Amino acid sequence: MQLAIDQQRLAWELEALGEITDALPPAVTRVVYTAVDLRGREFVKKLCGEAGLELRDDAAGNTFARWAGGEPSLAAVGTGSHVDALPSAGRYDGTVGVLGGLEAIRALQRAGFRPKRSIELLIFTSEEPTRFGIGCLGSRLLAGMLDASAGARLKDRDGITLDEARTAAGFAGSLEEVRLPAGYYSAFVELHIEQGPLLEQRGVPLGIVTAIAAPSGLKIVIEGEGGHAGAVLMRDRRDAFLAAAEISLAVERSVLATGSVDTVGTVGVCEVFPGAVNSIPSRVRMEVDVRDIEESRRDSALTKIYSACEEIGKRRRVDVRSEVVNADPPAQCAPVVVEALVNACNAHGLGYDRMISRAYHDSLFMSRVAPAGMLFIPCRSGVSHRPDEYASPEAIGQGTLVLAEALAHLAS
Ligand code: GLV
Ligand code: MN
Ligand code: MN
Repeated sequence: MQLAIDQQRLAWELEALGEITDALPPAVTRVVYTAVDLRGREFVKKLCGEAGLELRDDAAGNTFARWAGGEPSLAAVGTGSHVDALPSAGRYDGTVGVLGGLEAIRALQRAGFRPKRSIELLIFTSEEPTRFGIGCLGSRLLAGMLDASAGARLKDRDGITLDEARTAAGFAGSLEEVRLPAGYYSAFVELHIEQGPLLEQRGVPLGIVTAIAAPSGLKIVIEGEGGHAGAVLMRDRRDAFLAAAEISLAVERSVLATGSVDTVGTVGVCEVFPGAVNSIPSRVRMEVDVRDIEESRRDSALTKIYSACEEIGKRRRVDVRSEVVNADPPAQCAPVVVEALVNACNAHGLGYDRMISRAYHDSLFMSRVAPAGMLFIPCRSGVSHRPDEYASPEAIGQGTLVLAEALAHLAS
């Protein structure tokens, strides 16, 4: 089989998708179920239709684009990623796995390959946690790792529920039906940018992921007492933001206390109410992200954060409420997928490193219902979740080539 990737076309498609944004290009903002998110999906769906793939959406808005195999009753092989993008993100996170997955299918079609198993390209809903505070919504629901009714009740900052938002976006039906039947996929492979610097630093073209780190997310609300910034004396204050500042430092201290470079913590959201320079903050809403490749070590950091919240709340006489949004276990990639990727790299004379994914991905949840694995390509300086995120057409082309080869093997 003579596989050839159309790098130029793929680069153009990535660029065109990047133009569909709520931010000023090159920044990409495509928050789930917004008009630009839907336009981004439509752009990809149109390309899938042109490639002859059969399209369907589920009730959560996950899209499946199927290339029917010679034996369509067999479990399918899945690939894909997401097109939603957090505020002021880049063009490559997720999209490389979606458009690269599509180009891998087109390359196989051009090569005259006939899959025995169907090959399905997925666009997962809301891999980014921006709107509902929890990432990988689509794949969680597919894997049955998020209860459908709890998922439906999730609310965004404006109090709009996931159920309201997805229905308004045109995704009808019951969320109960999103969960995949057992054995739906025989394998799942996701192509993604590394989002870290290692491949570039080592000059290695590809990374084969062996495990995905364990993410967790907390929502913390602090209620103090507002008042006049001039008239209320310092000793009488119950300033919610000062408690939030201490809690943020406690997050840093708690992750550093594990002594491992693999434990990381971020306070990415901190909203101060009422948000006026001459008004004492009465209320703060924070979102905290804590991760590790080892679940127990991550949990030890979380425990320290909870007790810091309690201590700081008491001492500062403010009410601190914390809610665990998610605390997911890590995933091991499936040997059958890792082996298919190793063989594909070897078949094309491309070097690879085995590596851990510190970022989370839909594969974390797909691994609960299918043998799953991931392939990383380098991105410039390891930069991601920023508008200057960049992966070269050559790097994307190499990843797509290896993905196509691995899909062919897994679908034969
Ligand atoms: C995914 O976007 C992550 O935050 O790891
Ligand atoms: Mn991301
Ligand atoms: Mn991603």
